Amino acid sequence: MKRIIIFDTTLRDGEQSPGASLDIKAKIEIAKQLARLGVDVVEAGFPVASKGDFMAVSEVSSIVKGPSICGLARAKKEDIERCAEAIKRAKKPRIHVFLATSKIHMRYKLKKAKAEILRQAEWAVGYARRFCDDIEFSPEDASRSDRDFLCRVVEAVIKAGAKTVNIPDTVGYAIPDEFGSLIRSIKTKVPNSNKARLSVHCHNDLGLGVSNSLSAVRNGAEQVECTINGLGERAGNASLEEIVMILNTRRDILGCATSIKTEELYKTSRLVSKLTGIVVQPNKAVVGQNAFSHEAGIHQDGILKKRTTYEIMKPEDVGFGGTRLVMGKHSGRHAFAERLKKLGVELKRDNLIKAFGRFKDLADKKKEVFDEDLMAIVEEELVSIPETYRLEYFNIIRERGRLPKAEVAIRKNAVLLKGSSSGDGPVDACYKAIDSVTRHSFQLLDYSLKSTTGGKDALGEVHVRIRPVVALYEVLGRSASTDIIEASIKAYLNALNKFLFARQKEKKSVHKKLKL
Ligand code: KIV
Ligand code: ZN
Repeated sequence: MKRIIIFDTTLRDGEQSPGASLDIKAKIEIAKQLARLGVDVVEAGFPVASKGDFMAVSEVSSIVKGPSICGLARAKKEDIERCAEAIKRAKKPRIHVFLATSKIHMRYKLKKAKAEILRQAEWAVGYARRFCDDIEFSPEDASRSDRDFLCRVVEAVIKAGAKTVNIPDTVGYAIPDEFGSLIRSIKTKVPNSNKARLSVHCHNDLGLGVSNSLSAVRNGAEQVECTINGLGERAGNASLEEIVMILNTRRDILGCATSIKTEELYKTSRLVSKLTGIVVQPNKAVVGQNAFSHEAGIHQDGILKKRTTYEIMKPEDVGFGGTRLVMGKHSGRHAFAERLKKLGVELKRDNLIKAFGRFKDLADKKKEVFDEDLMAIVEEELVSIPETYRLEYFNIIRERGRLPKAEVAIRKNAVLLKGSSSGDGPVDACYKAIDSVTRHSFQLLDYSLKSTTGGKDALGEVHVRIRPVVALYEVLGRSASTDIIEASIKAYLNALNKFLFARQKEKKSVHKKLKL
């Protein structure tokens, strides 16, 4: 099995995404997560670019253990020295030197002739070698460079000591066959090519970043440069999660492995999205919210019979919660019944038909029918949950400089139970007071408050999702009131009553499910 080195440049090229500036703290957090993900190299920044970038590379170098830590430098003395200083505390430091080799860049940007570029590239690698053993060289805009000249530059930098030569498709201009053949010809034409590792760095201007990288791998590339969520200059870089999951999923054809712990992919994607503020499109391959969601009834039915009918990857393998069947107007009865089962409700045939009819009516009006809606259909139509606990009154005490305190009185049959607690906010204080008097313990998974009408006397509708410490399932509660604290308390009690009802049923049911 060929091992592909994963070089992550989220913190350097990825940070060049318009609007994606990261502070040092965020960079360290991402770098630590990249290390947990198992990337081989973290390109932490471009130290000469700013004081902040220098500090970030330097901090990442001393804190993050595991991957090689790399800094970028132009083929200039000042850049190389600054980079060497920034990475010096890394256990495995790398300097990445770049210099453009295409006619257009040499003529208009650098205003230098080929001979001068060749000399400068050779010199820069030799100079960087004084500070660090592990040198990578990139002939910028390689895919638009004259092939013979490019091969001469590659040969020269390998001779000067570059351990990795990275071939960038800087402007995302290449197409897969062409790029693959470029890599193959460098491998075959450059006499010392076996003395260095060949890498690729593909931009996504035409949406071909991943395809070009794969074509390069199939033609001999051993390192792929990529970013989380495909971030990067303009349309971004090849996306790490896509490259890795293609190599994993199609190992039969590609015969390659990486060191990536794929179960960390989703978490890493979320973290990068949160810290850069760049949202991941829902239909993004591998890590998008819809990547494992199925809407069509035929697909949902297939998935329920055999997951692999419509899924080529397991959601858990990328750290995603699981397959999601979106309940909407395309969903069939099978999916509807399964969804209810997951929520702890198993309906008898007649009730199922009735509830399914209600669901279809609602789905016609609403794009997506959520679990809360399903439970509401079931409860309103088919069961009435006994109000084991009922709110009598509550008081919120707020004193300047102190946490809010709640006093809550709840009736359980004829008994009035009173409890009090302080909390981070009034709702938290109330929930803690309720837990203390009812002696139940719940994890609050979700709390949402929305106004159902307009104006000052608007009704506040509260939804809560809780998981009893003693159970594996989740329970939903909701309530509405013009007083949002009251709505919050009642929503919590509603969930608690449902839990008690389900538990009672569970005890009676052979199937340990809520049988209605
Ligand atoms: O796109 C590019 O050419 C680069 C180089 C610095 C590798 O980002
Ligand atoms: Zn780039």
